[in-house]
Amino acid sequence: MSDGSIDLRAEARARAFSVPLDEINVADDQLYRTDTHWPYFERLRRDAPVHRYEHPDLGPFWSISRYHDIVAVDSNWQDFSSTGSIVLEDPADDFNTPMFIAMDPPKHDAQRKTVSPALSPANLQTMEPLIRERAGAILDGLPIGETFNWVDKVSIELTTMTLATLFDFPFEERRKLTRWSDVITAPEGAPGFGTEDERRAELFECVGYFMNLWNERVNAEPKGDLISMMAHSEATRNMDQMEFLGNLILLIVGGNDTTRNTISGSIVALNQFPEQYRKLTANPELLPSMVSETIRWQTPLSFMRRTAVRDVEMHGQTIKAGDKVAMWYISGNRDETVIENPNAYIIDRERPRQHVSFGFGIHRCVGNRLAELQLRVIWEEIMKRFPVIELTGEPSRIASSFIHGYDDLQVRIPRRT
Ligand code: HEM
Repeated sequence: MSDGSIDLRAEARARAFSVPLDEINVADDQLYRTDTHWPYFERLRRDAPVHRYEHPDLGPFWSISRYHDIVAVDSNWQDFSSTGSIVLEDPADDFNTPMFIAMDPPKHDAQRKTVSPALSPANLQTMEPLIRERAGAILDGLPIGETFNWVDKVSIELTTMTLATLFDFPFEERRKLTRWSDVITAPEGAPGFGTEDERRAELFECVGYFMNLWNERVNAEPKGDLISMMAHSEATRNMDQMEFLGNLILLIVGGNDTTRNTISGSIVALNQFPEQYRKLTANPELLPSMVSETIRWQTPLSFMRRTAVRDVEMHGQTIKAGDKVAMWYISGNRDETVIENPNAYIIDRERPRQHVSFGFGIHRCVGNRLAELQLRVIWEEIMKRFPVIELTGEPSRIASSFIHGYDDLQVRIPRRT
């Protein structure tokens, strides 16, 4: 990014390698808006793979930045618990929304098992024709020869439609899901999201809306949508309102933002690496591997947090019981000791599925195949229609250290002569 005479990237690099280690704050949302977080992680991987930072608001937290350390921590739920929170903030005392991503076994396992059939390969096979039909219709409706925001017209539209199907949510009202997703993830004070009280009021509206769907379904025959599944399962049928809201938040954000930002990321990546675009059009069989490479390169969720259950030694540091630990997937995916030339986007890598974007262990993303399916289908449909989609400006990135994505991506599809 260039800001007049100041080159923000060069400046960030110089600072990242000169600042004292204990001043590096990789939870600073602005680093992600300006895309300048990369050199800080490079420094941490090299000099402080288990790094402690005293955050003025969030308190102290450890950063794990190397690939294999992330896999080790993520796989060890006995020592690194998910209970309470998977972001650096702890839940507010008066607004706690338990969800199964922030639980340990056995409750986690039972709730995960409740929803996972909706995301099984068999169910996805049934969904594929519908996703394809919608992807085609979205692409056929795009304004050719004009500049438009790809995030809104394609990424959000397709993923919100899929989410509506998973919930069997009233289709015409599906943009409510997008709004709730944005309300959940918008940083505090973000324009358009009001005060904390207003934000909570919107989330109560969300749970109220879903409660009506629940009430319709709880007394009806069990069906394959997520609400009916939760209403009829031993593990979830007695959730109170806040836990219901928590699991809704998990499924809305999990199913929406992540895939949305990967679809947008594929456009950014192919424009930054045009030779890969040519490779893909010349050889469409590379698509599944391109999808995995995009998920690695984009890393739509930058980290997950754990809380140490006992004192653990790592790389000469003692993580104490009760300490917060962030596993920075966004850094692990750029670990130069594991992935060759990791900053480059290379769609025919030898091991394209070698990445940590979906996590590891008992919480490994349950929607990973649905994400890959949507990516593959949208690109199969794009390639039938458009030889090129041009980025016409610098992407506008989300100011968040957790959700790694874009809110505006101006593109143009050239008119064919
Ligand atoms: C490219 C898209 C996606 C990425 C990068 C992604 C990433 C992740 C990550 C990092 C985790 C936590 C893993 C861990 O702690 O070890 C996770 C969990 C989860 N994801 Fe995804 N996700 C994506 C798409 C989806 C989709 C489409 C859904 C569908 C609803 C979904 C639903 C979930 C759920 C429910 C969990 C909690 C699993 C558990 O705690 O057992 N995700 N995802």
